[in-house]
Amino acid sequence: MCGIIGSVGRDGETLDVLVHGLSKLEYRGYDSAGVALTGDGLQTRKCAGEIDDLRAELEHEPPAGVVGIGHTRWSTHGPPTDENAHPHQDCTGDVAVVHNGIIENYQSLRDELVAAGHTFESDTDTEVVPHLIEDALADGAGPEAAFRSAISKLEGSYAVAAVVDGTEAIFAARNDSPLVLGIDDDAYYLASDVPAFRDHTDRVVYLEDGEFATLRADEWIVSDGTGETVEKAVNTVDWDPEETGKSGYEHFMLKEIHEQPRALRQCLRGRVDELAGEVDIGDLADLSPTGVQFVACGTSYHAALYGAQLLREAGIPAQAFLASEYATATPPIGDALVVGVTQSGETADTLSALREARRRGARTLAVTNVVGSTAARECDHVLYIRAGPEIGVAATKTFVSQLAALNLLALGVTNCPDARETIAALRELPSDTQAILDDSTAESVAEQYADASAYFFIGREHQYPVALEGALKLKEITYKHAEGFAGGELKHGPLALVTDDTPVFAVVTGDDATATKLVGNVKEVEARDAPVVAVTDGQSDVERYADEVLRIPETHPRAAAVLANVQLQLVAYHTAARLGRSIDKPRNLAKSVTVE
Ligand code: AGP
Ligand code: GLU
Repeated sequence: MCGIIGSVGRDGETLDVLVHGLSKLEYRGYDSAGVALTGDGLQTRKCAGEIDDLRAELEHEPPAGVVGIGHTRWSTHGPPTDENAHPHQDCTGDVAVVHNGIIENYQSLRDELVAAGHTFESDTDTEVVPHLIEDALADGAGPEAAFRSAISKLEGSYAVAAVVDGTEAIFAARNDSPLVLGIDDDAYYLASDVPAFRDHTDRVVYLEDGEFATLRADEWIVSDGTGETVEKAVNTVDWDPEETGKSGYEHFMLKEIHEQPRALRQCLRGRVDELAGEVDIGDLADLSPTGVQFVACGTSYHAALYGAQLLREAGIPAQAFLASEYATATPPIGDALVVGVTQSGETADTLSALREARRRGARTLAVTNVVGSTAARECDHVLYIRAGPEIGVAATKTFVSQLAALNLLALGVTNCPDARETIAALRELPSDTQAILDDSTAESVAEQYADASAYFFIGREHQYPVALEGALKLKEITYKHAEGFAGGELKHGPLALVTDDTPVFAVVTGDDATATKLVGNVKEVEARDAPVVAVTDGQSDVERYADEVLRIPETHPRAAAVLANVQLQLVAYHTAARLGRSIDKPRNLAKSVTVE
């Protein structure tokens, strides 16, 4: 999920080009880095930590070569250690591979390779690739054919680049993970994003899923899965190199909002079987909890409220606690499970609640984005949400991935009555999310209400945590007063705050009794002259009472929560942009809150 750089033809400068490229990819977030160069034997250097740690490592004995590949890793399989850093090699040391993404079928490939006598040095999914190339080379294939043979065995998402000792070429392939070539007069580059080589060339070739590339000093060739050459357009990028770190987006938050279809795909990949109506969450399916307590903070707490509701719907007693208040919670009873929901895995309040749960004898599960994080290491079990690194302080793609992952958990540990419908809706989430990103009118809504004195968000059931999250997102990046309420609570106090200067965002999906009650709440605020923005799938008649409508596709109410949230993220973002706020680093806030 992180960064790849490759360089061919910069004799004497390859190492500098690679390290510079990796530093330009730092914005993507990473936990380890490494390089491999060939030309004078194959040499690799790698370590956990930052690019500066790699630089220090390289100072002892800088590797040299005319061809090289480099990598920043954001761990998905195995903690961030020196051994797990890329490049990975085969048993002979003749092959080096870097990879972004997740190889879904790595375990079965690894088992076969181990049975055939291969020795593995890392915990990664990636390491199967150099060993597969090794096998094909041993069978007499040339380097390019061996690379193709290895790639043909992979399932999952990957951008892969490989070098083979004695061959002055880079072999690369992509499927569902970005890869772009840089074309210069006397050198060629390869990277997961243009900034990595933008200082050397502005001519680029974007690879598509299923395509292969071979770079040699005197040629670059793109081919399809059958080996047929593909004619590719060479595009010229006119971005300023300094601006490219956000892939053309003005802020990381907006980039991350747009990455949500991919984040959702990664989260669900290999874990849902629509035909069988089942999910595969491995050993977690055996947890069989008699009750579940969730602990979390901020946005993750909103995901926890949603997760608790999913479990209750499947008949398991479940409750969400603010992690900082967990000390006063009833101790978990019997075979209860305490689930810490934390994107970073480092939030002090959440870690402390999980430790308290263990002291009380509970089993613990971390639902987190960061492999090897403290929560992942300390809990008995882990469910990774696989959203990819999130740089913006405001959680966006990690929240939607948490919601998707909590659906997987609920489906995996319970006999959910409508599993089939939920799974079908989950499968549609990435494309439904994309449809919202393509058509949302949130920007004009945001502009219209940017000067309001306060904002309220209401929802019921699955949409109640969405209302809370809509308000949190808006307040943290716009610095304006915003509150989320359960629709039914308005009349018990908050209605006193509602005026013609306080837009109310109402999340109404479906057309059942819950939707009807929320429409009733909308009428209450409409009668007080508040502008109403309905976030709706159009099934109820809420639009009759709304001044503005933010439409989401019709889907299962559980999936609707994810989609409604995307519209509210966009409202928060565009309001903050209009107000000129520091969107990626809001005042007083930190990405990871490591104090209690
Ligand atoms: C979300 O936008 C906030 N930055 C914050 O509420 C965050 O969700 C909270 O600090 C919890 O972080 P965690 O998920 O890393 O534990
Ligand atoms: N899945 C690989 C790993 O865990 C690659 C992760 C990445 O994209 O950086 O090492």
